Amino acid sequence: MATTTRATPEHDGKEANPLLEGLRLRRTPEPCALVIFGASGDLTKRKLFPALYSLALRRLLPESFAILGVARSESTTEEFRSRMEEAVREFGRDRFDEEAWERLAGGINYVATDFADEGGLDAVRDCLTELDESRGTRGNRVYYLATPPNAIGILVQQIGERRGASGWTRLIVEKPFGRDLTSARELNAKISEFFVEDEVFRIDHYLGKETVQNMLALRFANGIFEPVWNRQFINHVQISVAESIGVGSRASFYEETGAIRDIFQNHLLQLVALTAMEPPIDFTADSVRNEKVKVLRSLHTPGPKSVVRGQYGPGFVEGIEVPGYRDEEGVAPDSETETYMAAKLYVDNWRWADTPFYVRTGKRLPRRETTIAIEFNRAPHPPFEEMARGGLRPNVLLVHIQPDEGVSLEIGAKVPGQGMSIQTVHMDFLYGGAFRTALPEAYERLILDAMLGDATLFTRTDEVEEQWALVDAIVATWRRDRPSFPNYAAGTSGPSSADDLVGRDGRAWRRP
Ligand code: BG6
Repeated sequence: MATTTRATPEHDGKEANPLLEGLRLRRTPEPCALVIFGASGDLTKRKLFPALYSLALRRLLPESFAILGVARSESTTEEFRSRMEEAVREFGRDRFDEEAWERLAGGINYVATDFADEGGLDAVRDCLTELDESRGTRGNRVYYLATPPNAIGILVQQIGERRGASGWTRLIVEKPFGRDLTSARELNAKISEFFVEDEVFRIDHYLGKETVQNMLALRFANGIFEPVWNRQFINHVQISVAESIGVGSRASFYEETGAIRDIFQNHLLQLVALTAMEPPIDFTADSVRNEKVKVLRSLHTPGPKSVVRGQYGPGFVEGIEVPGYRDEEGVAPDSETETYMAAKLYVDNWRWADTPFYVRTGKRLPRRETTIAIEFNRAPHPPFEEMARGGLRPNVLLVHIQPDEGVSLEIGAKVPGQGMSIQTVHMDFLYGGAFRTALPEAYERLILDAMLGDATLFTRTDEVEEQWALVDAIVATWRRDRPSFPNYAAGTSGPSSADDLVGRDGRAWRRP
């Protein structure tokens, strides 16, 4: 009798499912060169090099590997290496190991060029050809575009025109991907002149966070949640991305984006999509993204009363006096940029109809905390006194994205002693306690995935366009009225109109 062998990832030649693997499992990419455009920027220093160093320390980078930093500023390879060493020492999550650093540093190069110039990338191409010889990178390239959005079109053109005949090429594009639907479409069109979708990795670093990926594990690796994960059992959802930091040295960037383009368009909407999506048939890039995009497409455009924006004034954060947004360096004194936004969203489909998703994000809030709170309906009949009085809270499943990464379930429990007194308690799972390991930084996971050609944790063209379509619709309503800013003091939990947004529905925000 003939036996049928089902295709396994090894048999059909595809990559094994990355979502089921931790960084501890070995997944070493093929030889390649990583080219970082925007090498003198903040992201390169604070995130990219510390992540590359952590990968090098764990021997997760290819044996034959090189990094080419590209920026306008005149500098030498030596200077660049020593600046990046300082950055790794300052911002890295791991102890500094000379041997691991030397291994990485040996492959670091720098080219100063203006990529807006016609032939600006010739020097880059020549250096890469030389690295193929000296470092064995075999014509394989990952281009990381960590530049402002307006430089990306020209870079894509220049890279595309210089694609070599051998090896593969991949593009990692930093957020924000455009500034509205029109510019995102233009960028997508430009990219598709030279690259196919599988070669494009649009970063939303939230997707690289362990706790964000765990949302998929929580929902789809456990049988108990799916039956109650819908409008019949869930009263509403609250998603908060709160930050205590202000705009810092990024005023020129932030003045252009505001909270809606900086966080809502990407991180917040991705969290909504992961919370609301249907189970994917498997964990391949397209299956996961097909389900996410359906959610984004189902989002009802909120009317003006369902969106609140705010801007912080002077105040105190963690006991320290801080200036208002309009007094920050580089911010216009009459700036109308929002540093806070909240919205009531509806996912118009069978699973979620009429279930509000309240989302909010802001800078200069009391503390840094990102959570997803799923609030269930109250028990239908209250046999206990506390419930009858409304004193007992409904069950809430709380996903702590950061800090204190983990999940907790709020339940009612009997207070020890005589009588039947009920109190809300927490059943907690904490990453730190359960796995006894520090969580990798999102960028480690994402850089490695791009080198491996796995796009599961990156946003696809249609996702990004759906996200912008919603943002454009909200921004269009904002044009009609002028906000009266500032409307919340730094260190408070946002404008009072945000409380009204949920208060009108008889609800309240969870206190961070
Ligand atoms: C970035 C935003 O995407 O995310 C920043 O541009 C924000 O404004 C940052 O501070 C927050 O990231 P994390 O990983 O610290 O939550």
